[in-house]
Amino acid sequence: MVLSNRERLIQLLSQNMHTYVSGQWLSNELGISRTAVWKQMKHLEEDGYHFKAVPNKGYRLIDMPDKVSENTLFWGMDTRVLGQTLEYHEQVESTQDIAHMRARENAPEGYLIVTDSQLKGRGRLQRRFQSENKNGGWFSFILRPDIPPLHAQKLTLITAIALIRTIKQKTTLQPQIKWPNDVLINGRKLAGILTEMQAEQDRIHYMVIGVGININHRPDEFSDDIKDKVTSLLIETGDHFKRRHFIQDFLKNFEALYEAFLKEGFLTFKEEWEQSAFRLGEELTYKKNKQTFSGTFIGIHEDGALVVEKDGIKDYLYSAEIDW
Ligand code: BTN
Repeated sequence: MVLSNRERLIQLLSQNMHTYVSGQWLSNELGISRTAVWKQMKHLEEDGYHFKAVPNKGYRLIDMPDKVSENTLFWGMDTRVLGQTLEYHEQVESTQDIAHMRARENAPEGYLIVTDSQLKGRGRLQRRFQSENKNGGWFSFILRPDIPPLHAQKLTLITAIALIRTIKQKTTLQPQIKWPNDVLINGRKLAGILTEMQAEQDRIHYMVIGVGININHRPDEFSDDIKDKVTSLLIETGDHFKRRHFIQDFLKNFEALYEAFLKEGFLTFKEEWEQSAFRLGEELTYKKNKQTFSGTFIGIHEDGALVVEKDGIKDYLYSAEIDW
């Protein structure tokens, strides 16, 4: 890929955010005059980049606009594996599809695909997931866990916990998990998780975990059919969040949870999951094999099933249709 002078300049400055670089050094690296470097820097400032300029030392990039790109995402990525290899696209049909393609091409564990906008974002049960808007976090990553396929869906629960931790670190909100794959705030959907995999009976080839989170959406940015059911971090807090920071912090949280999950299993996290469970302790109505039942939602089973109880008898729900 041939980068423009502007892109090269951003790359050089972001690679050196911890230090000062001189105008002369930048001009040598880019093969352009110092005046041309200075002009490019002015354009960058107009576009939301902030520099500190110190005489005799040079420039240091201290802040970038809320952009998600390979460069901006990579800097500040405090993970060992997750997101250490990544690709960014301004617009795609679905990051899930790209992730599947890359996984088949042998992309490593942790490979991340991030986009600003999806034209065919999808959710569970092939439902459409609105993600054209550029104010969200839309991304998928590849995992290659050495666990039986039967345990794979627990990674949806782990992903939900990672989202809850990230939201709580950044806000005073009380997010909740709507089993199995939604994160809600005040009863409205903030984020969704889509876990897909390629596996044989006893071996996972790879998994793709997709996360979509509404970050800086204003109320009028949701379409009429969903606007009463969804929310964003901006709507709930009044604050604007840097999307790349959210993604980086989420990946760090997820990585810690994932490593612990592989060693210890889900039981370690059962309580944390239940603490955020939407409607825990309440009566749920659900459909199983076309019959309607009800029972009290008493918790999550170690294997990821939702546990309901009626007249002292427990029922374990794996894919039941729940009337939330
Ligand atoms: C759901 O709500 O049912 C899950 C939504 C998952 C959406 C994410 S956005 C990134 C990735 N790409 C997709 O097409 N879907 C997931």
